Amino acid sequence: MRKIRVGIIGAGSLSEYHVEAYRRNPAVEIAAVCDSNMERALNKAKEWDVQAVYSDYNEMFALSSLDAVSIITCNNTHAPIAISALNAGINVLCEKPPAINAAEALQMKEAADRNNRLLMFGFVRRFAQNTQFVKEIIENGLLGNIYYAKTGILRRCGNPGGWFANKAISGGGPLIDLGVHIIDLAIYLMGRPKAVAVFGNTSIYPGDRKNIKGISRYVPADAETQESNVENFANAIIRFDNGSCLYVETSWTMNIKSDTFYMDLFGDRGGACIGPKTEIYSEQNNYLVDIKPVLEDYFFNMNNSFMAEINHFVDCVTRGAPCLCPAEDGVQIMKIIDAVYTSAKTGELVKL
Ligand SMILES: NC(=O)c1ccc[n+]([C@@H]2O[C@H](COP(=O)([O-])OP(=O)(O)OC[C@H]3O[C@@H](n4cnc5c(N)ncnc54)[C@H](O)[C@@H]3O)[C@@H](O)[C@H]2O)c1
Repeated sequence: MRKIRVGIIGAGSLSEYHVEAYRRNPAVEIAAVCDSNMERALNKAKEWDVQAVYSDYNEMFALSSLDAVSIITCNNTHAPIAISALNAGINVLCEKPPAINAAEALQMKEAADRNNRLLMFGFVRRFAQNTQFVKEIIENGLLGNIYYAKTGILRRCGNPGGWFANKAISGGGPLIDLGVHIIDLAIYLMGRPKAVAVFGNTSIYPGDRKNIKGISRYVPADAETQESNVENFANAIIRFDNGSCLYVETSWTMNIKSDTFYMDLFGDRGGACIGPKTEIYSEQNNYLVDIKPVLEDYFFNMNNSFMAEINHFVDCVTRGAPCLCPAEDGVQIMKIIDAVYTSAKTGELVKL
């Protein structure tokens, strides 16, 4: 079978995860690399043994006969690059967040529909082994109806700086960067209910804490930091059309003992915890029982999850497998994120 020709757009910090996964997939040839920073594109292409190198993605679409691309660039470029790729008849895997707002995400979905091409958003946490375990438990009815979920990613000192902290480029702070992962994961596990109302808050406190020494943190390729003009903390309550609700909180820097990830789902028959543990809470023969699975990845494993995500994208492109992260989910997520920012600004509940 002919290998599919994939282009990598954005050769920065995260690109290694996509490239490593594509290289392990026998159905894929990485045919071209593009980065607006040509020197970076050339260096990475050499490292990855890719011959065709571009600084302009439109030129790459015109010249490299691609079947698919991964978009791994800063957030404000996701929509223009994806729409251009889809218009060129190329299938798209786009990193999270889908875009910097819902209007852009909707235009991306419309481009995919119009051109009959796949637009998959990279919600990598859906592909973690412990997520799949909990998802199957839920689908088999062990939790019953999920009426409440709560989740958070809270960092003690982890503002990535660079463009991540520049609202015009990133679209926002930890809410759009980290919150997008966990809001999406919770909604996925809750059975993809439709959000109907959002109440949110944001804060800039306690600042980006660039002064702190002695720790390492995630940094983008161009990390020279402009002043941060995004929130450092956000929380929200999201209500869904089936009456269930989700509480979410996220922060890049917070005076907390250590970095924290938690997600708990509560059903009328059982509960599930998917971080920091993976456990199910239920009852059997009138006793309370805890179920602890035996898994290779008891916690979120970034390498394996990216591998599973990319393999799924390739399956969708080559075999027409139904996409686990369809474009419409990306549109809903962006509507929710827009609503949190609006609610935080106005102090009002936002109805969707
Ligand atoms: N799924 C995850 O867990 C995860 C983790 C980290 C980052 N991300 C996402 O991946 C994306 C990239 O993040 P990163 O940390 O690699 O950033 P980065 O700054 O390290 O890399 C981005 C690269 O894109 C290039 N670029 C920017 N505009 C471009 C354009 N118009 N055409 C071609 N190249 C362009 C930049 O020169 C840079 O090399 C972001 O959307 C981020 O939210 C996702």
